[in-house]
Amino acid sequence: MDRLNDLDAFWLPFTPNRHFRSSPRLLARAEGMYFFDEGDRRLLDTCSGLWCVNAGHGRRKIAEAIAEQAARLDYAPTFQFAHPDAFPLASAIADLAPKGLDHVFFVNSGSEACDTALKLARAYFQRKGEGGRFRLLGRERGYHGVGFGGISVGGIANNRKPYGPLVPGTDDHLPLPYDRSTMAFTRGEPEGGERFADALEGLAALHGAETIAAVIVEPFAGSAGVFAPPKNYLKRLRALCDRYGVLLIFDEVITGFGRLGTAFAAERYGVVPDIVTFAKGITNGAVPMGGVIVHDRIRRVFHDDLDHAIELFHGNTCSAHPLACAAALATLSLYEEEGLFARAAQMESVLADAVHALKGAPHVLDIRNVGLAAAIELEPQSGAPGKRGYETMRRAFADEDMVVRVGGDTIALAPALIVTEEEIARMVGGVRRILERLE
Ligand SMILES: Cc1ncc(COP(=O)(O)O)c(C=O)c1O
Repeated sequence: MDRLNDLDAFWLPFTPNRHFRSSPRLLARAEGMYFFDEGDRRLLDTCSGLWCVNAGHGRRKIAEAIAEQAARLDYAPTFQFAHPDAFPLASAIADLAPKGLDHVFFVNSGSEACDTALKLARAYFQRKGEGGRFRLLGRERGYHGVGFGGISVGGIANNRKPYGPLVPGTDDHLPLPYDRSTMAFTRGEPEGGERFADALEGLAALHGAETIAAVIVEPFAGSAGVFAPPKNYLKRLRALCDRYGVLLIFDEVITGFGRLGTAFAAERYGVVPDIVTFAKGITNGAVPMGGVIVHDRIRRVFHDDLDHAIELFHGNTCSAHPLACAAALATLSLYEEEGLFARAAQMESVLADAVHALKGAPHVLDIRNVGLAAAIELEPQSGAPGKRGYETMRRAFADEDMVVRVGGDTIALAPALIVTEEEIARMVGGVRRILERLE
């Protein structure tokens, strides 16, 4: 019992733990756009939790669906068995995805979704007798979670360096489609961008296209700091993947379920990938869930004529967990009833106007936005990269009553899709005040 107030046992992820223990930031309750600390201080949530609470916090409909399900069916295995809610949920997700993306495999997080997508790409080619296609190409500064597959195709150095050697066949990365000299302070998607996709031609020439299984990209790079895809980039990438017989995977863990004003980024950009990953917004963050949506042409390759033969040796104890399915069904119906994807589209220009007005504020190197997401990139303090970002997060909590997400020296704003103009003004005003006082 002595340990009740001991903050040492819980090892927080992606956190400087010693400093956290010296001034903990505890979030005890949440409602709408706000968290509340243990003393009931109200804190504006500027990043939908971690890009997941798209319908805002404390939604009764979701809480009730989870409670009812917990009382009815706490658990059911989905290896060789199933429960009734998994099927309508898979259909509802497939209905939101582009035509052809018809089959849904459930896991419990975005990381597992990414590793599932990568494994599926290799297994698909093995099934087709093309096992020589094993390379999995990600992108510099890409984030695909923390599994070995995800960090291997991912391109964020700190997430990779301590863990090598990584998965064979993943060493090459395409460039991030960004060039500060021409793209800084762009509103929305920059022009052009074909040349960044064309780097795939170089890798196809170097290794032989027949060795490449898949390319995985975030439609917009989220964790690296909101880099919108240039206007011609994703279409060009799709065309090159088609030319070389390579699968295109969109990691829509952040972009799925409304962040870009559409159900998926694939819809906004008019590009149909072969596999889509999702997580986060599927349950509004209320219960862990992730998954992949697979094109029918891939799924078909896994069919087996033998009644007893398992077609894919993959899955998790909690794949399609009943509580997650109940939460997801309630979440999807909330998104629809409240027209939240369209609302995100409407609010895009409000957020864009607000954040771009920070141009010229102290330390600001670049400002980027797309959909209901924006980043303010700060110049790193000399000799202390990440310190300005960390201080911004800390002061936002201490002085501005805001929960702010930073990655390195970049501030990310990605409010829930229910955000109002006043709340956007408040978050940007708070950031401005912090920057004006920051060393
Ligand atoms: C694009 C992308 N992929 C994968 C992940 C990993 O998801 P999770 O943290 O649920 O494992 C994230 C998380 O931020 C993400 O942004």
